[in-house]
Amino acid sequence: AQEGRTTIIVAHRLSTIRNVDVIYVFKDGKVVETGNHSELMKKKGHYYDMVMLQSDGDEEKDVSFFRVIKLNSPEWKSITAASLCALSSGFAMPLFAVILGDFVDVLSNPDQDEVWRQVTNYALIFVGVGVFSGITNFVMVAFFDDKENSTGALCARLSGEAAAVQGATGQRIGSVLQAVGTFGLALILSLVYEWRVGLVALTFVPVLTFTAVEAVANVRTVASLGREATFTRDYASQLEPALVTAKKGTHWRGIVYGLSRSLFNFIIAAAMYYGGTLIVNEGVTYSNVFKSAQALLMGASSAAQALSFAPNFQKGIKAAGRVIVLLKKQSKITDPDTPAMENFRGTGQASLQAVQFTYPTRPNIQVLKKLDLEVEKGKTIALVGASGCGKSTVIQLLERYYDPDGGIVAQDSIPLVKLRLIDARQSIGFVQQEPILFDRTIGENIAYGNNVSKPGMDEIIEAAKQANIHNFKQRVAIARALIRRPKMLLLDEATSALDTESERSSKIFTYL
Ligand SMILES: Nc1ncnc2c1ncn2[C@@H]1O[C@H](COP(=O)(O)OP(=O)(O)O)[C@@H](O)[C@H]1O
Ligand SMILES: [Mg+2]
Repeated sequence: AQEGRTTIIVAHRLSTIRNVDVIYVFKDGKVVETGNHSELMKKKGHYYDMVMLQSDGDEEKDVSFFRVIKLNSPEWKSITAASLCALSSGFAMPLFAVILGDFVDVLSNPDQDEVWRQVTNYALIFVGVGVFSGITNFVMVAFFDDKENSTGALCARLSGEAAAVQGATGQRIGSVLQAVGTFGLALILSLVYEWRVGLVALTFVPVLTFTAVEAVANVRTVASLGREATFTRDYASQLEPALVTAKKGTHWRGIVYGLSRSLFNFIIAAAMYYGGTLIVNEGVTYSNVFKSAQALLMGASSAAQALSFAPNFQKGIKAAGRVIVLLKKQSKITDPDTPAMENFRGTGQASLQAVQFTYPTRPNIQVLKKLDLEVEKGKTIALVGASGCGKSTVIQLLERYYDPDGGIVAQDSIPLVKLRLIDARQSIGFVQQEPILFDRTIGENIAYGNNVSKPGMDEIIEAAKQANIHNFKQRVAIARALIRRPKMLLLDEATSALDTESERSSKIFTYL
């Protein structure tokens, strides 16, 4: 920390905070130990235990696909069934093509009685394929949607990497397996029936894949998020009611989706049956029957797609309603009628005195229980403690994102509630754990950090240089915090991305 700037660090890896001035150790909503690294190590208390714990063995960093799958292991039976159904529902299209081919062949038979007999058979076969694909799709959607909903409903409020997990589970797996089934069987059959035609068809696969991917992405664009790893008991119990409603919707959606898929085959069955009778009785050419069936099919598959979107539409309307309610909400964090001081400029000193805090959305859990914390001007302070012990909460109280239920959060001995919001936040730079960058140039992203004046390019470049650490996103976010020229810098796990390279992470503080 240079130029007398106060820095507050929430660090995941304790090795990154060895050199800070004061370490506050949190436990159960209180500060249980205070001191610098060597003092705390001598004490052999909580801090010592945490350091010892971290030095043996690193925590998990990269989670493999199989790890994610393993989270689903209690449901392995239904997953297996649903996967098999997804795979075999993919068989429907290639099977259909083969049967259609045979059918066309039958129609060219001059023996009318024979044609009549066969037409009936084929119509039944198509009905069979329809039932088969209806059932497999129902099982597949019912299961994969179920997962998606149960996790989606509760995780929708969580942001960040959750979307990535969704990419590896749920509906996507169903769609992918289905596509694999379709393509696998189609390829085998096309090569077995006529390998030359198969090879020619294969050259179209890139185009096909492109459209298939489009289709997969479009089947459901609802951005529900799955982040199983972060589930806790609390969540599970809170979500029980949501799960029940989600399940109801799921079965309905399974039926609709199954229907929409089998519809395709039913239409073919009907068209071919009727077409067959026309050919036999009225001398219509089979090429006309074929064309008309194809036209119907196109319509049917569009209908199928539309049907599968119907539930999303309802959902969208409801979601919009909730957004509107949200937009109408007023913040409780407001400016005082008469601020204690005009044009307050913080110096980098802050304190929390006997602060009690409970998140309004979780009234039964008190996060901070009479917590005291002194932030001395110009010092570097680290907050450590187990995950969920309230470190980020303290940071957010310092920014006055929330007001404490009891006790005082103050800057330069003035309680934050008596300061204008903009003044209280003016002297603070904040780098969040997962910084959010705007879809603008890097310069604009950094400049955005200064809400008083528009920084010049030289200032932007200087801030960018000061923030010179190797993780790019963090670098921009830190530069954005620095361009405010903050008297106090709050780093909430902002260095976690660097933790793997410990020598580097110890260096960043010389830059800041
Ligand atoms: N926005 C929120 N709403 C409800 N509870 C929250 C919220 N943010 C955090 N909590 C809860 O408050 C406790 C402290 O969280 P936090 O301050 O983020 O811990 P830390 O940063 O030390 O990991 C945890 O039990 C957490 O689940
Ligand atoms: Mg945190």
